[in-house]
Amino acid sequence: MIVKCPQALSDLREWLDLRSQLSGSVGFVPTMGALHQGHRELIERARQENKWVVVSIFVNPTQFDREEDLKNYPVTWDTDLKLLSEVGIDYVLRPKAPSLYPDGYAYKVTENVFSAKLCGAHRPGHFDGVLTVVLKLLNLVKADRAYFGEKDYQQLQLVQAMTQALFIPTTIVPCPTVREPDGLALSSRNQRLSPSQRELAPQLYHWLNRKDLTCHQVTEKLVDAGFQVEYVEEMMGRRFAAAWLGSVRLIDNVEI
Ligand code: PAJ
Repeated sequence: MIVKCPQALSDLREWLDLRSQLSGSVGFVPTMGALHQGHRELIERARQENKWVVVSIFVNPTQFDREEDLKNYPVTWDTDLKLLSEVGIDYVLRPKAPSLYPDGYAYKVTENVFSAKLCGAHRPGHFDGVLTVVLKLLNLVKADRAYFGEKDYQQLQLVQAMTQALFIPTTIVPCPTVREPDGLALSSRNQRLSPSQRELAPQLYHWLNRKDLTCHQVTEKLVDAGFQVEYVEEMMGRRFAAAWLGSVRLIDNVEI
């Protein structure tokens, strides 16, 4: 496994040549690290379907709308590396911000329709940051396939539509949400839940799945349970929710 931590744009240049040196398909899994079983299943799927697997670990500052959230984002580099070597991937890209943003974020990708809804309505600039960094990474890695989780369904849809709109040749592969046995969707942020919040957290999935209840009724149930609800909404045949337990923001979605 080759680990690269480019500090500057010049260190990233070799990635632009990497693809031409690899024969056979390349699978790519972009992440922000603090890897868990949800990430692992994406990486294993990429491993099964491609000759080469590239994983990126980059806590992307431009997608955080709150300074504190960025500061508190978990970093677990040593255990991440262990997981990656267990799965047996080929390249880890762990860039420093100046290498990915030589323009200081003067250029960005904005989607004006779907990104204004759901999480986008509550996190100004979030999806600009996500789409911009994903486009940069897709252009660097030039993978045949890139793997994204349905846990972040709006992100997955926006990335998929961006690759079509901008003629990016990488195929976006959707992967199902991985859950704890009690239903809680795995997330790097779950590490920050207190024991009592962790006990409450699966109720988000539980109430979302109560298809006999309206979104308004689900919101009421979640508030009664102790969540601060950002939204519960239905669109595209799915029900989406975001809610806070203390300072931890949880999101989830289910098919309806
Ligand atoms: P991150 O939250 O690290 O997630 C990386 C990928 O793992 C995303 O595609 C996400 O949907 C997927 N994932 C996370 N939890 C999952 C779960 N429980 N089940 C299935 N898939 C899961 O999403 C990001 O990073 C960033 O926004 C990124 C795309 C890397 C851009 O910075």
